[in-house]
Amino acid sequence: MCGIVAYLGQKPAQPILVEGLKRLEYRGYDSAGLALLAESSFRIHKTAGRIAALEAILPKPDPLNPGTIGIGHTRWATHGEPNTINAHPHVDATGKITIVHNGIIENYATLKKWLMDKGCTFTSATDSEVIANLIGYFYATGAPRTGQTPPDNENKFEWAVQQALREFCGTYGLAIMCSDYPNMLIGAKKGSPLILGVGDTEYIIASDAAAIVEHTTQAIYLSDNEMVVITPTGFRTKTTDNVLVTKRLKDIEFSLEQIELAGHVHYMAKEIAEQPRALATCLGGRIDVKNARVILGGIQNQLRELTRTRRIILTACGTAWHAGLVGEFLFEQLARIPAEVEYASEFRYRNPIIQDGTIVIAISQSGETADTLAAVEQAKERGAMVLGLVNVVGSTIARKTDAGVYLRVGPEIGVASTKAFTAQVAVLTMLAIELGRRRHLSSDCAASLLSELHSLPLKIDKILEQSEHIKDIARENIGRENWLFLGRGVNYPVALEGALKLKEISYIHAEGLPAAEMKHGPIALITDQMPAVFIATKCSQYDKIIGNIEEVRARGGRTIIVATEGDHDIARYADHLITIPEATEQLQPMLTVVPLQLLAYHAAVLRGHDVDRPRNLAKSVTVE
Ligand code: AGP
Repeated sequence: MCGIVAYLGQKPAQPILVEGLKRLEYRGYDSAGLALLAESSFRIHKTAGRIAALEAILPKPDPLNPGTIGIGHTRWATHGEPNTINAHPHVDATGKITIVHNGIIENYATLKKWLMDKGCTFTSATDSEVIANLIGYFYATGAPRTGQTPPDNENKFEWAVQQALREFCGTYGLAIMCSDYPNMLIGAKKGSPLILGVGDTEYIIASDAAAIVEHTTQAIYLSDNEMVVITPTGFRTKTTDNVLVTKRLKDIEFSLEQIELAGHVHYMAKEIAEQPRALATCLGGRIDVKNARVILGGIQNQLRELTRTRRIILTACGTAWHAGLVGEFLFEQLARIPAEVEYASEFRYRNPIIQDGTIVIAISQSGETADTLAAVEQAKERGAMVLGLVNVVGSTIARKTDAGVYLRVGPEIGVASTKAFTAQVAVLTMLAIELGRRRHLSSDCAASLLSELHSLPLKIDKILEQSEHIKDIARENIGRENWLFLGRGVNYPVALEGALKLKEISYIHAEGLPAAEMKHGPIALITDQMPAVFIATKCSQYDKIIGNIEEVRARGGRTIIVATEGDHDIARYADHLITIPEATEQLQPMLTVVPLQLLAYHAAVLRGHDVDRPRNLAKSVTVE
């Protein structure tokens, strides 16, 4: 995903921009650049490749005039190949406007032709350069469609930005400078996140709070079609139609420490290891074992409607979708509420039928995933109450849903989602138990599940102790290019998740399947070259899954089995055995997923991949 950092303050901007861009590296990128505004002219440096390559070409800041205002960008190519020319910032043809852009301008080709017909020149193949040029065009000439001429006053830059924004179809997060306004920085947002960090004497615009927290924890979150105009004396927020809006300062709810590696080699390793603490925080204060109740403050007012609902639709993408599948199982088992899970990317385009009494739950770590956001909007348009299970506080999905529950696991920096999954499942479990209590679930059963939930962090700790053993398993199978992950019931989504993790960061082909489906075709693939990872913990379908393991072994397949501690019988079916502490079936996904995360992590490292910057950059897909 692309990243934006922009600075206006009293310090030299260059090192602050570089540091900020480094904080956004985890989002993936292929080129980087920055522009400083000093002595009414731009100093622009950009390059294909890593931030280190950018640093190598940056001159030392001029001690007399270092430039205390600037914009920076990490680009993930969408229009035009990843090279220096296409890297941001882009400058307009007059040389007065420079921008960095996240998002996609869908009508850029039409606008580009229009501008070229007017004599405007382009140097890059990007959609983003159209933004710089259109602002520059309006700034220089006025707005031909409305017949307006640019105001000849201090608002001319701002006015030109507003004229241009009206013409764009698509999405943008923008930071913009004009060389005639050496003390002004403008940010604007539609469909891509943009946050303004507000310090005592400095301002930082960023696409992600990770680039801000080092400087301030006070921020405002721009909404779509809003812009911010910043000068050394303050800032004003308004709609892109020029209506002033008052925004409240909010606390960025994580610290610098949380976004640093804390001794781990990769963020993914850190976040896997953090799961006991993250899960404890997610559960903290939400479980009342004595009264067998769950307290989810964020949806307290919606509980009555939830209890009466006729159908729950869970919608999400990727790992969050897998959590949704676990949720479907739990809502049906514990609360006896019909539930179904929809890929947000399918739901949004399918003209879905939302009947009276349907509640939609959107699940998203980032709260910015474009498909999930569009699914939320679809569901709301059709009259559904929409709840959000989101990690990032103040994110767009958190704001757009009617109510919701935060995951509280702190920032998830690794591209591969790990601790967010366990927390998503934990919240869905708590919700299913509470709804169950309000319907059919006995107090004893709820109390026993809730008290066991409390014990899960310690159980995860025990699984993490097997990391070296799991690494050995990964090493022994590292040459295998095709893997199967098989589970049943509530552990079937975990099999899907195990396969996704392996694909995503190890680039090994993997399929996740309900174990019983294997015999309907995929069994033909089984050889001793294809490891089959089974989740075969003690559960209601234990005997059935043993049958599935037998089928694989009968064909010479190699098995890696995740089993319950103390299940001595299962060892004879396993080429490799990993154990999890005993747990009630409904709660097992929060445990069984952990060895699969470790397996994928170790396989990726053993293969020499950059785990935190994998080829898949789907951290919050399509929010570039
Ligand atoms: C999983 O490891 C991926 N990073 C990806 O599938 C992710 O879960 C998906 O893109 C959804 O992201 P979200 O939870 O931020 O909405």
